[in-house]
Amino acid sequence: MSRVLLELDHVSVSYGSVPAVRDLSLEVAPGEVVGLVGSNGAGKSTTLAAIMGVHRLAAGDIKFEGISIAKEQPDAIARRGVALVPEGRHIYPDFTVEDNLRLGLLGRSTREGADRDLEWVRRLFPAIADSSKRMAGLLSGGQQQQLAIARALVSDPRVLLLDEPSLGLAPSVVDTLFDALAEIRDKGVAILLVEQRAQLTVAFADRTHVLRNGDLVLTLGPEDVVDTDRMTQAYFG
Ligand SMILES: Nc1ncnc2c1ncn2[C@@H]1O[C@H](COP(=O)(O)OP(=O)(O)O)[C@@H](O)[C@H]1O
Ligand SMILES: [Mg+2]
Repeated sequence: MSRVLLELDHVSVSYGSVPAVRDLSLEVAPGEVVGLVGSNGAGKSTTLAAIMGVHRLAAGDIKFEGISIAKEQPDAIARRGVALVPEGRHIYPDFTVEDNLRLGLLGRSTREGADRDLEWVRRLFPAIADSSKRMAGLLSGGQQQQLAIARALVSDPRVLLLDEPSLGLAPSVVDTLFDALAEIRDKGVAILLVEQRAQLTVAFADRTHVLRNGDLVLTLGPEDVVDTDRMTQAYFG
């Protein structure tokens, strides 16, 4: 396995005195997809927010390339190469698709390679390239999700955090999305994929951690996808 890029080491996060994530450890290496599944309220979004430096940790540490980032501000973490695509996409509906995409360039540490990356995401998401002059709000849900991911990608991230990218999308659109994620992974980006579609995620990711009420209860690999009983029990139990 390649060198670990992002490491959560016994991380706990609380809202006031209420714990949302407890003692969570996981690792993501370049070229890996790590899944994080669990029902509503399991602590998935809280985990991503903690990685981005939005929440202070109640315990534990988060490391990027072996260096603790747990006390850094979100902008510093983003500049290291960690990009979050939040749930709900957050594109600017009244800006053109092209302008939305170019906003992602602001997150780059250097302008060098920007044209190459723009070209790459336009090839990766042809629908985005074809509608560059349209208002982003006119895109379909699947295209808006693609745009949100494309915008994150042109910031040249080393780690991509995705919060429920398939939410509300039709199955065929989800397949297209996951094909794109595979290409992003193959480019060497480390992906932490938060999803509610557990089975799909387990089949796709190198390993998938199941969260329940803030606890990691189970870790599954693609070979476990046939073992739906074990999975659904942990997932819904
Ligand atoms: N801003 C907040 N203030 C207080 N509690 C929150 C806040 N955000 C989330 N929570 C609580 O933390 C727990 C985990 O939430 P969240 O991380 O959003 O779960 P998920 O993304 O897995 O649905 C839930 O019990 C939720 O109600
Ligand atoms: Mg969430």
